[in-house]
Amino acid sequence: MQVPSWLVTGGAGFIGSNFVHSVRREGYARVVNLDKLTYAGHRENLEDLVDDRGYVFVHGDIGDASLVDSLLRDHQPSAIVNFAAESHVDRSIMGPQEFIQTNVVGTHTLLQCALRYWKSLEHGRASDFRFLQVSTDEVYGSLGPHDHPFTEGNQYRPNSPYAASKAAADHLVRAYHETFGLPTLTTNCSNNYGPYQHPEKLIPLMIGNGRSDRPLPVYGDGLQVRDWLYVQDHCDALRLVLERGRAGETYNIGGDCERANLDIVHALCRLLDNAYPQGAPHARLVTHVADRLGHDRRYAIDASKMHRELGWQPRTTFDEGLAYTLRWYAEHADWVAAVSAGAHERWIETNYDNRGSTAVNGGGK
Ligand code: NAD
Ligand code: TYD
Repeated sequence: MQVPSWLVTGGAGFIGSNFVHSVRREGYARVVNLDKLTYAGHRENLEDLVDDRGYVFVHGDIGDASLVDSLLRDHQPSAIVNFAAESHVDRSIMGPQEFIQTNVVGTHTLLQCALRYWKSLEHGRASDFRFLQVSTDEVYGSLGPHDHPFTEGNQYRPNSPYAASKAAADHLVRAYHETFGLPTLTTNCSNNYGPYQHPEKLIPLMIGNGRSDRPLPVYGDGLQVRDWLYVQDHCDALRLVLERGRAGETYNIGGDCERANLDIVHALCRLLDNAYPQGAPHARLVTHVADRLGHDRRYAIDASKMHRELGWQPRTTFDEGLAYTLRWYAEHADWVAAVSAGAHERWIETNYDNRGSTAVNGGGK
């Protein structure tokens, strides 16, 4: 059987690069990776694939219709997997415009190109084609402490500009299915962690700061709850959805692993104490800083549709995944330095310099 080609967008970012690695490792498909290489995208993430003949990297924007049209025409993919996005909530608070441009306008351009291409396919290939929109649980808004986790039927109630831009994109994906019949799939996943996550996100930031004896900045009281999923489990779920998901459906993906931010930071401190006893106790570095504006209190995912329809279960426990992630960052100091150069330092100043530290201090002992 001929190996299919997939157009992956945003494949040089965190989840996209893990996805591309696993797709190529297992030989599921040839991959064309279209990525704009923003501050979050790095060719280093996929440097081991430079000699892989089943992998093509294209530097470009999902909002560039003529480029996308030509990639579809030349590579004839059987699926488009859209990871490309501005993805950091804090950046969306400082500057939402880029989120609207890529997440909404860019995704819409990609949909227009996908529709043109899909209409050009002969019957069999058209019915096998899939457009997979990789989205987030943040579109559902915030849960109270006793609310049932998000199901696919929850109302969209996004609170941050990031979440609103992803919600808008999801609505457009739905509309292209309902109106034009484009065979779309949408996944809404919880917080991912693991290798290649940008050092400005919670877990890598805490690992980096803890290792270099810098403060561990916890927003507000740190009791905000997120559901966490190891990135490879997300990638496995995406492949299953692509191969066996029903066109027009949405699937919630999560780790059944709710944790308060403060608990995560303390779990990391314990791992750091074991790995670097000279810095112990790392919990002395925990510093409560001003809260994020509009900070959602709790996300949780009911992934029973994924279990029931596609037989998917996360395989990595949080303890295993966190320990592995800490080791990965320790062993990839060169990668961290490369992706942290320049713009990252400016972001750290922009995001943290005016936050101060607040009266609550759960860490100092
Ligand atoms: P990321 O920020 O690490 O990577 C995004 C990638 O998209 C980068 O490589 C960037 O260069 C690229 N990109 C940005 N704008 C582009 C454009 N206009 N054209 C082409 N490429 C562009 O993000 P991530 O954490 O890997 O998330 C990937 C996707 O998964 C996003 O759509 C995000 O909303 C979704 N998601 C993320 C999480 C999470 O916990 N990280 C959870 C659920 C869903
Ligand atoms: P983040 O990794 O930005 O993901 P998201 O906002 O998409 O959930 O943040 C995860 C949680 O950690 C979120 O509740 C905000 C919090 N957080 C901190 O407390 N301190 C930090 O320095 C960062 C980056 C995040």
